[in-house]
Amino acid sequence: MTNLEKYLNKFSEADWLAALERLLPAIHEVDRNAVQIWFRFYPLELFRYLETAEDREKAIQKFVMQGDFELKNQIDSSHRFLYGHRYWKETKATIEILAESFKDEAADLSKVIETAASAVKADKSLTLSIAAVGLMTLNQVGLEAFKAAKGETQKPSGLLAKSPATIVEKRAKDDSQGIFGFLKTVDKKFTVTWDETKSKARFPLINDEELATAAAKDQSQDWKSQDERCWEGVIPVECRSASCGTCWIGVLGGQEKLAEVQRLERKQMKVFGYNQPEDEKPFLRLACQAKAHGNVSIVIPSWNGVFGKKVYDNVEEVELKPATTSAKRLRETIKSASSSE
Ligand code: FES
Repeated sequence: MTNLEKYLNKFSEADWLAALERLLPAIHEVDRNAVQIWFRFYPLELFRYLETAEDREKAIQKFVMQGDFELKNQIDSSHRFLYGHRYWKETKATIEILAESFKDEAADLSKVIETAASAVKADKSLTLSIAAVGLMTLNQVGLEAFKAAKGETQKPSGLLAKSPATIVEKRAKDDSQGIFGFLKTVDKKFTVTWDETKSKARFPLINDEELATAAAKDQSQDWKSQDERCWEGVIPVECRSASCGTCWIGVLGGQEKLAEVQRLERKQMKVFGYNQPEDEKPFLRLACQAKAHGNVSIVIPSWNGVFGKKVYDNVEEVELKPATTSAKRLRETIKSASSSE
C-alpha cells in the first residue's frame, strides 16, 4: 500500500461525507448533487463490510443485492453522470502521481481533495467533484486496479454537453403548459430525464404522479434486456410500496419539485442502507414513493440491496432471511424482516 492509500484508509464514510460537505460551497452547482449522490451510490461502509465478511457471497445473498455494485468494475464509468467526468483522464493521472509522492499523513481530507482538483487544468469548481470521486475510487479499488483502468471518458453528449450554467438552467425549467396552462391542475404534464448524457432518455409524467409509475408507462424500449431488474420501465421496481429498496434514485435537478419524504420512505431508506439526507426533499429518493409536480432530472444506480441494519450502527438489528433470485421470494424476505421489528 502507498502512503496515500494508507492515509485514505483511515477515514470512515462519515469522515468522507463531512469533507465533502466542507467543499460543497466551492463545487459548481452543476455537480453539487451529483457528487453527493455518487458517494451514496458507492457506500464505503458497505464495501468494507463485504471486504471483511467471513463469507462474502453469503453476505451478498443476505443483503438481496442485485445489479453491479462493485466499483472495481466501473472505475472509468461510475461517474458518467457528473459534469466533471470529462476531466477523469487527467484527474486519474494526477491521483496516480499523488499516490507515489504523498507524505502529509496529518493533512485534512478536504485539503487533499483540493490538492488533486487544483492539479487538473480547469476551473477548480468543476474538478473538485471528480477529484473526490477519484480518491474514493482509489480507496476502494487499490492502486493496481486504479492504474489498470484505461481512464477512458465518454464524449459529452445530451444535456451534459452544454455549459454548466445552461445545464443548471435547463434542470430548473418546467415544460410549458400552453397558453391556458394556468387553468390546468391534475392534467399538467412534465418530463423526467433519466440520463443526462443521452438526448432521448426521458419519459412524460402527469402532475403528482410517482416517478416509477410514470416510468412504467414508457414501453418504447425492451428495458429488461438492458437491466434484468427493469420489469416495467427504465426504473427498476419490485414492490411499489417502499418495502424492497429496488427503486432508489438520485435527483440531479428538481428535488424541490418532488413531494416531501413521508415517514415510511424515511424509515425504509435507513433499513435499506441508503444514506438519505434528513432534508424534507432530499436528493436520494424511492421512485415508487416520490411524486413530482415539475420537470425532474434523475440518475438510476446500477444496483440495489438491503444492508442498513448490518452495515450501519444506528439502524435497529434485524436478521434477514436468505435471499432468493425470485421476485416473489425477494418481497417475502423483505416483508418478513420488516414485520419482525
Ligand atoms: S419498488 Fe420496492 S421500494 Fe420502491
